[in-house]
Amino acid sequence: MGTPKGSETLIDLRSDTVTLPTEEMLEAIKAAELGDDVYKEDPTVNRLEEMAAKKMGKEAALLVPSGTMANLVSVTANTKKGDSAILEAECHIYWYELGGIASIAGVLPLPVKGVMGVMDPKDVEAAIRPRTLHSAETTLVCIENTHNRAGGTVVTPRQIEAISKVARDHGLRLYMDGARIFNAAVALKVDVREFTRHVDNLMFCLSKGLSCPIGSVVVGTEEFIEKAKRVRKTLGGGMRQAGIIAAPGIIALEKMINRLEDDHRNARLLAEGLAVIDGISVNLKTVQTNIVMLDVDGLGVEAEVFVDKLRERGVLALKVGKTRVRMVTHRGIEKEDIEKALNIIEDVAKEIRNGNL
Ligand SMILES: Cc1ncc(COP(=O)(O)O)c(C=O)c1O
Repeated sequence: MGTPKGSETLIDLRSDTVTLPTEEMLEAIKAAELGDDVYKEDPTVNRLEEMAAKKMGKEAALLVPSGTMANLVSVTANTKKGDSAILEAECHIYWYELGGIASIAGVLPLPVKGVMGVMDPKDVEAAIRPRTLHSAETTLVCIENTHNRAGGTVVTPRQIEAISKVARDHGLRLYMDGARIFNAAVALKVDVREFTRHVDNLMFCLSKGLSCPIGSVVVGTEEFIEKAKRVRKTLGGGMRQAGIIAAPGIIALEKMINRLEDDHRNARLLAEGLAVIDGISVNLKTVQTNIVMLDVDGLGVEAEVFVDKLRERGVLALKVGKTRVRMVTHRGIEKEDIEKALNIIEDVAKEIRNGNL
């Protein structure tokens, strides 16, 4: 019972972005009160933004079409051209956003290698470039929570606090790509504000585990959001009757957060099942939320071959490295789907081990 309509037999573990909106979300879209959001006249967008700001313990919020735009808008609004920004070397901004912070924001990325997605505050401090005649002054630090390429790992409030101390001591802003911040909050069973209170601003995605079709929200001070709004407009992200995007977002914030726990439970089940299959390795320590990273090096094949073989059998996964594969749990993937997927994966691994390529 994978999510995509018309492909009921597929178990789609590529991403939590494949989730379809709930019936209630579709009804809410139909019933949404609308206006022109560029004039600030869409009551549904206004309501979502107020809700989001309150939930995150910040002054204001801004709806944008995607997580990528949210990151670009935020980095731009936090810096000026020619600045540099410290970010974790495996983060989404650095890997998967076409270098937009360099090509559009004009910001030099300074990657710092973390452990399970978490940068050591000492390394952050060492990477800071001062304002001199020669260097691109560092004005921003970016963290990612949960950390996608590290396997959905949580950056704990205490770790964020330690990084924020370095940022504060050096007069830098701290921004959080919180695309999956509610997964982090649910995993640690703490209020999301425990994470957000240590950062100046952040974004979170509505369109991942929260199941909305579109949308991310940037959150921060009124002054920052005013700036962010101007950048959003520059990028063509000023939307008119955007209440059709905000309406499911409101439902997501009201009703979809607690169910992320189901996804985490299923990811754990999947990871533990994968870990005992010959030739597949999983670092169970990194399986903290809804993402499972596995390595198929022990099977002697590249990720692409493995992923293709799974696809033939109705299980969709994502190649994220030469021998690395990502699987993500989400609404629409039930315990039975995980059990079925594990059986298929075990069969495929056996075939590969037996030389049936
Ligand atoms: C951590 C993180 N940040 C940002 C994004 C970008 O979101 P979008 O696909 O909506 O542009 C993603 C998408 O997967 C992500 O995982």
